[in-house]
Amino acid sequence: MEKSYQILLKNNENWVREQNEKNPSFFEQLSEGQNPEYLWIGCSDSRVPANQITGTMPGQIFVHRNIANMVVHSDMNMLSVLSYAVEVLKVKHIIVCGHYGCGGVLAAMGSKQFGLIDNWLRHIKDVYRYHHKELDAISSEEERGRRFVEVNVMEQVHDLGKTSIVQNAWLKNQPLHIHGWVYDLKDGVLKDLNVSFTCTKDLHSVYHLDQ
Ligand code: CO
Repeated sequence: MEKSYQILLKNNENWVREQNEKNPSFFEQLSEGQNPEYLWIGCSDSRVPANQITGTMPGQIFVHRNIANMVVHSDMNMLSVLSYAVEVLKVKHIIVCGHYGCGGVLAAMGSKQFGLIDNWLRHIKDVYRYHHKELDAISSEEERGRRFVEVNVMEQVHDLGKTSIVQNAWLKNQPLHIHGWVYDLKDGVLKDLNVSFTCTKDLHSVYHLDQ
């Protein structure tokens, strides 16, 4: 009997064939280097794959994913991805993409213990505390969860702007826009939250860094 994972290798064979039929130099071109215009910071959730939902191909998006699309300023993994994307690849846009029904965000709204991951969820709980007045006023738990997902994305957009990596790019007049989006699992639609950050003055002055 065929093991479930073997279907992935079969799919890959088919995919390689299809790509070669469409463009015989597809892999040769990609192997020469990457020049993506976008950095995507999204949730690890299997239902929110960056390329498929944006109709993009390999080579177009540099991707970092973690539980609940967090920008934690002491996370070496995220900082390394950000540094490489901004300083070397010189991406023009960073998209923080959350999604309604995010398990990490909803877990952070409750009190249940999940083990090690609670330390990660703590960062999301801090976001709740910053926005507790607005969130506590929403009586429907489902609606509160949806809004929490949105404000979490907005906070991560802010957190990107606070990094020296992003601020130094702005100080050098390198074009770099940060966007906050939310994906709806129920209909597949991406929503722009219009929290676009393009320069240091979009941040509170306490976070401003000098050159
Ligand atoms: Co999620």
